[in-house]
Amino acid sequence: MPRKILVTSALPYANGAIHLGHLVEYIQTDIWVRFQKMQPKDKVAECWYVCADDTHGTPIMLRAEKDGITPEALIERVHGEHSRDFAGFHVAFDNFYSTHSPETQECANTIYGRLKDAGLIEKRTIEQYYDPVKQMFLPDRFIKGECPKCGTKDQYGDNCESCGAAYTPNELKNPYSAVSGATPELRNSDHYFFKLSSETCQSFLRHWTREPGRLQSEASNKMQEWLGAEGENKLTDWDISRDAPYFGFEIPDAPGKYFYVWLDAPIGYMGSFKNLCARKGIDFDAYFKPDTETELYHFIGKDILYFHALFWPAELQHAGYRTPSGLCVHGFLTVDGAKMSKSRGTFITAESYLKTGLNPEWLRYYYAAKLNATMEDIDLNLDDFVARVNSDLVGKYVNIASRCAGFIGKKFDGKLAATDAEWLKPLREASVSIAQAYEEREFGRALREIMTLADTANVFVNDKKPWELAKQEDKETELHAACSQAIEAFRLLTLYLKPVLPKVAEAVESFLNVAPLNWGDAATPLPVSHVINAYSHLMTRVDPKLITALVEANKISLAPVPEAAPQKHTEKQEKAAENAKAVAEAGPHISIDDFMKVELKVAKIVDAGHVEGAEKLIRLSLDIGEEKPRQVFAGIKSAYDPAQLIGRMTVMVANLAPRKMKFGLSEGMILAASDPEGKAPGIFLLAPDAGAMPGMRVK
Ligand code: 2FM
Ligand code: ZN
Repeated sequence: MPRKILVTSALPYANGAIHLGHLVEYIQTDIWVRFQKMQPKDKVAECWYVCADDTHGTPIMLRAEKDGITPEALIERVHGEHSRDFAGFHVAFDNFYSTHSPETQECANTIYGRLKDAGLIEKRTIEQYYDPVKQMFLPDRFIKGECPKCGTKDQYGDNCESCGAAYTPNELKNPYSAVSGATPELRNSDHYFFKLSSETCQSFLRHWTREPGRLQSEASNKMQEWLGAEGENKLTDWDISRDAPYFGFEIPDAPGKYFYVWLDAPIGYMGSFKNLCARKGIDFDAYFKPDTETELYHFIGKDILYFHALFWPAELQHAGYRTPSGLCVHGFLTVDGAKMSKSRGTFITAESYLKTGLNPEWLRYYYAAKLNATMEDIDLNLDDFVARVNSDLVGKYVNIASRCAGFIGKKFDGKLAATDAEWLKPLREASVSIAQAYEEREFGRALREIMTLADTANVFVNDKKPWELAKQEDKETELHAACSQAIEAFRLLTLYLKPVLPKVAEAVESFLNVAPLNWGDAATPLPVSHVINAYSHLMTRVDPKLITALVEANKISLAPVPEAAPQKHTEKQEKAAENAKAVAEAGPHISIDDFMKVELKVAKIVDAGHVEGAEKLIRLSLDIGEEKPRQVFAGIKSAYDPAQLIGRMTVMVANLAPRKMKFGLSEGMILAASDPEGKAPGIFLLAPDAGAMPGMRVK
């Protein structure tokens, strides 16, 4: 039976920009879907790719409030930005929707109702921190305080960044609300729980997570750890409700209570698909009925495995729906071997990549070359990125067409000779193994095989030397045959690369004057006398300067970016805006928010030295708890000897835009006092009290 497949990528939160970390997943999924869509209809009848913005929850509600707009206005704006970025990277969803939709609400209500009927929803009273100023219950993330284990201040409500201890918010010492700064009070509230600890959920999940194809082996092992040994009850019930005020869907029979964002997020997959079904006449039930033959795959990152491999299948199963055929879990992205970092400029947004002028297909190719079916992290090594794209795509692939196409146009009116040569047979037959690699999400393997074939084609062109044949009048037939065969090799390579390079493939289809390439077309050579169009260059080399500019752009983007103008104001927000304006007009003050934009940090001077050719400067190496010390040039030479500075503590501005100086990059500024009128000459470096550690925030 031909396959019918529904594919999803995780839903991005509607309060942040798409960055290169997100794109690993969207590009991976898009390649897999494009590959499926190229299959013959008797193999894959349909393949749909849906996604949506994940729009609910406290952070989005507070963010909108901070921006002085309604949550609806915020999610609409972000939806536009996300759609633009996905389109920019050629991520071709069949539907990119929103969880804040009637379809998602309907599905959420149905699932909740059915779980309730099955006796799997329970109401319980819980004690939770409440912000008396903001008048809201606080999620763990919005409670801060001192770590109960090591006493470090300003730690989040669930774990300590200093000693790594995990705890509940109730254990924090001197807790305060990160929203208003108020001391929170413990209050009772009724919450609704999904009974994941029930016998039916446990036994179902024990079985489901071990079924072949559902999970990668690493994921399945992780699940057995979470589920515990047979007979052991390790799963706890899941709190699926939140109190008002909350931006989300109100629970049908519980006024003032809302579905927790993680309850309706995966249901957003259904909502998005339902919306697509209505527009395209697809049978929704055929995809979601329990005994369906259709397939459902969720591409996700390893950080959200818990939600997708436990809650989600258990919910679906007990609400009378199908469960996912499989989860396709990938690892995290590192850049140059380290976590993406805003201060190093490696937290790169999709928008900045495109604005800097980098070609999205370079990144698609690079990610594909690194991707496999495991949950291992992948590294974007920026030097390797330049080298790999230039050598594979430009040096090997495009090179074949650029060396042969011109002769077909000039000498043979664009007409091809026969292209069914024996040496092309292995290139044609490779369609089977390359297809298998794509199907198994072993994209790196697929590209290695394709590049080996490109090598074969280049050896052929190097041997034939069309540029020399063209100089000899009696070699016309040979020239025609060689160039035609090389073009056919190029067509096959394009077909195999099409899931990764859709835009290049489109340009090649028009150059070759052929219909959109599908997988079955590998078997059929271009016919004799087929006329191709004039060749125009398909891809440029990556200029390493673009990479430098990209990293710099992302360092600079740390500076606060003005947000879009506020749209709908509520009366309260209007008042707040008026107050802010009045304060601003009252005198030379800055607001606390302005002050907090300056990131002051305790720094240890780990090295100091003279700067050749600079009268006033000392070069400092400052440890502020980052992986590498920062280099800062400070104009303090008149007052300090570098040797005396080593080992001292001071304070630096850590988020100042880096400045290129004649001597090198200056990555911040240290703080020193001086008398502007010169009555007390000298420069006095600031120093924290004993006990301050490098990296501590000064405020
Ligand atoms: O982790 C995240 O970014 C979530 N917004 C993913 C949701 S995926 C799905 F469940 F909706
Ligand atoms: Zn601690």
